[in-house]
Amino acid sequence: MTLAKFGVVTVSDRASRGEYEDRGGPALAACLAEFVASPFEVVAAVIPDEQDVIEATLKRLVDDDGCCLVVTTGGTGPARRDVTVEATLAVGHRRMPGFGELMRQVSLEKVPTAILSRQEATIRYAGDRGGALIINLPGSPKAIRECLIAVFPAVPYCVDLIEGPYIETHDEVVTAFRPKKK
Ligand code: MTE
Repeated sequence: MTLAKFGVVTVSDRASRGEYEDRGGPALAACLAEFVASPFEVVAAVIPDEQDVIEATLKRLVDDDGCCLVVTTGGTGPARRDVTVEATLAVGHRRMPGFGELMRQVSLEKVPTAILSRQEATIRYAGDRGGALIINLPGSPKAIRECLIAVFPAVPYCVDLIEGPYIETHDEVVTAFRPKKK
């Protein structure tokens, strides 16, 4: 079985300067461990809210490290330095608007300020084959699980469609949905 690689990117000026502990990255890695049953490895990065740095990190994780899924946390709001979404759109070859739509929908049942998250998802193709699904999550550790669990049933099939490794989930937590072959 191919070892799947997942990028976990914390985008935060203060966490990257060490002013506070990164809580988002570990929360995200914990969700992946809870959801995914097949073998995988996490490639983590903690970076500032600088669009060029975010773009370079996303490109490296997909093109060089071979991640099939990259999840970011932070920088999706309306503040001037919130540029994770812009970087994700800049490096992505395809927008996947359903992810942001669903995550905002489920988040709005929890907090009215969910409307402030501009979170997106894109596909970045790498070389001749493969590539990655890049998903933006808000910075709050609570938001991370709320958002990721909502969209995760569709993630393994999305990765299949971009020729990534076969991802299996812990069915008692999230069930991967794969349409029956015709
Ligand atoms: N979504 C969920 N599920 N739970 C939350 O607590 N916080 C919101 C929103 N989405 C939140 C959420 C808030 S307060 C903001 S400002 C935006 O995400 C953007 O957060 P970010 O800039 O840290 O990415």
